[in-house]
Amino acid sequence: MINIAVMVSGGGTNLQALIDQAEAGNIPHGKIKLVLASNEKAYALERAKKHNIETAVVKRKEYDSQDAFDDAIVETLHAHQIDMVILAGYLSILGERVIHAYQDRMINIHPSLIPSFCGKGFYGLKVHEAALERGVKVTGATVHYVNEIPDGGRIILQKAVEIQNGDTPEVLQKRVMEQAEWILLPKAAEMVAVKLDKEKSE
Ligand code: GRF
Repeated sequence: MINIAVMVSGGGTNLQALIDQAEAGNIPHGKIKLVLASNEKAYALERAKKHNIETAVVKRKEYDSQDAFDDAIVETLHAHQIDMVILAGYLSILGERVIHAYQDRMINIHPSLIPSFCGKGFYGLKVHEAALERGVKVTGATVHYVNEIPDGGRIILQKAVEIQNGDTPEVLQKRVMEQAEWILLPKAAEMVAVKLDKEKSE
């Protein structure tokens, strides 16, 4: 069994999808042991509490350097025996100490078909604004491993979503979440948990 931490900053709809699929028995190789938020106001924390999942908050501004923040994140994850990390709408920058500690054991959901509309500054609604601005007919979501390049790690899963005439960024974001993100993330979580479980038992 792989211990999973989900790192969040906002509403937690991707966290909710993971919780729902785990409770439905569709993530048999992983257990969500911790929800780690970047701020105490993240509604994702309420979702975790409703399902008796442990929570923690580690705020970047409480640390005077990226390294000190990274060390606090790694300490929190290790204190909960976390094997694998899922970034689900997590907005703080994670430095190399965290990324190296969870090399090939940290995944992220990005609301576009990478390599389009990704990298520094592309998060949340900005991603959908850029897709609409460019006039693409198809967008979607990508789950990828996290490395030191923002949205630059190996791609695990992708799913395409049609853009419709008259779409606003908000309408498009909701469709990408419903038709791609909330489907891909639980599937990717189980795929990586299987892989790590096998490595753990070798
Ligand atoms: C959304 O923009 C989503 O597309 C991206 O993170 C943001 C917040 O998602 N993955 P959530 O509702 O907090 O999971």
